[in-house]
Amino acid sequence: MFAKEVYQKRRNQLKSVIGEGIILLPGNEESGMNFRDNTYPFRQDSCFLYFTGISRPGLCLVIDIDNDQEILFGDEATVDDIVWTGALETLTLQAEKTGVAFTRKKVEVINALAGNRTVHFLPVYRPETSLKLISWGLTGQPSVALIKAIVAQRSVKSEEEVKEIEKAVGISVLMHQKAMEIARPGMTENAVAAQLQAVATENGGYLSFPSILTVNGEILHNHPGNTILQNGQMVLCDAGAENNMHYAGDLTRTFPVGHSFTTLQQEVYSIVLNAQQKAIEALKPGALFKDIHLLAAEHLVIGLTDLGLMKGDPKQAVAEDAHTLFFQCGLGHMMGLDVHDMENLGEEYVGYTDELKKSKAFGLKSLRLGKKLEQDFVVTVEPGLYFIPVLIDSWSAEKKHAEFINYEKVKQFRDFGGIRIEDDFLITAAGSRLLGPPLAKTIEEIHAIRSGLK
Ligand code: GLY
Ligand code: MN
Ligand code: MN
Repeated sequence: MFAKEVYQKRRNQLKSVIGEGIILLPGNEESGMNFRDNTYPFRQDSCFLYFTGISRPGLCLVIDIDNDQEILFGDEATVDDIVWTGALETLTLQAEKTGVAFTRKKVEVINALAGNRTVHFLPVYRPETSLKLISWGLTGQPSVALIKAIVAQRSVKSEEEVKEIEKAVGISVLMHQKAMEIARPGMTENAVAAQLQAVATENGGYLSFPSILTVNGEILHNHPGNTILQNGQMVLCDAGAENNMHYAGDLTRTFPVGHSFTTLQQEVYSIVLNAQQKAIEALKPGALFKDIHLLAAEHLVIGLTDLGLMKGDPKQAVAEDAHTLFFQCGLGHMMGLDVHDMENLGEEYVGYTDELKKSKAFGLKSLRLGKKLEQDFVVTVEPGLYFIPVLIDSWSAEKKHAEFINYEKVKQFRDFGGIRIEDDFLITAAGSRLLGPPLAKTIEEIHAIRSGLK
């Protein structure tokens, strides 16, 4: 936990923006995998964490603005509970550590909500939270005022948060170094992924999302399986750690299964790396992330044109979405307590504004962040090129964007796979700063690691 003043300040800021009524922040519950007592690893709700720092199931924070009270609802562990869990810090002490003066029994939440006052609550992503809200008579819509206030607050990372994010990215770097050091032809994807998870947990945290580790990098979110790594293939590894303060890291590297990339793999890799570099150079307060996404897309198109896969004017190709045959997703997203920060609150609020709405077009509809960057935002930059056979076949049959795409050449890439490169950045007054220690990224740096394979 941070010092209690951090949480007090966060709650005071929120109260002053919301102004009146009650703010209700339910924490998460344990969640059974296949029966109640066999639970998934507990993960506290990130908004609850942000405003209390308490990672424990069964709690609810009520901020009564009108009566200037903050109340933590929950039940102290009984002796019966402690038989199974071991001694727990008391709720009273936890409340004290976060600077909340009152604790009440969980069943009393309903009383705190009594009356005709406005109760501000957030969108729900877990069914048990939904049931709680219904049982408290809260069947209306989430509070847009609360969503907007929290998004504005959590988007701007404080110094202490950036330190924690850097720790999470640092562990993520160790995970990727491990992957690049141990992956060998003959191993399964799962065998490599298992060791990444070990790095995350032995460093005090967990994974910030289920690892993507695959020799089929063209499948955007392909999780590891028992596929055996073979010489000549590439491993796309998109993985990150959540540190012990629950901040996330999110990095991607693509590296050869053998000692080195093939010449063709190097050519495609260089295109992605160049697009990432161009996007990084464009990061700065005031820049529209959507424009940076399109800039990266344009550089991907320039590279693909040099390679003979695309033709025509790159700007026009991007304007007409022709690049989405190869880059079907977005350039990046916000990152913080969640790997896709605050997306449970709604992408329309986190990544867009009342004036800038998300596009419904293929490609742009997957751009999670479009709005203007501000100082102290933390974002990922993750361009890629993905050769998806079913998409190539479908577009080719339709002759879609044939003025920009050289389908005869593209067909030769049906089995190429995919390449993504991802790093995490803090937006600074001058531009941006890479978070965490640098991780091998150039072809030379990756070959230097992979050539050491025994
Ligand atoms: N980890 C999925 C992503 O990079 O957004
Ligand atoms: Mn990622
Ligand atoms: Mn990402």
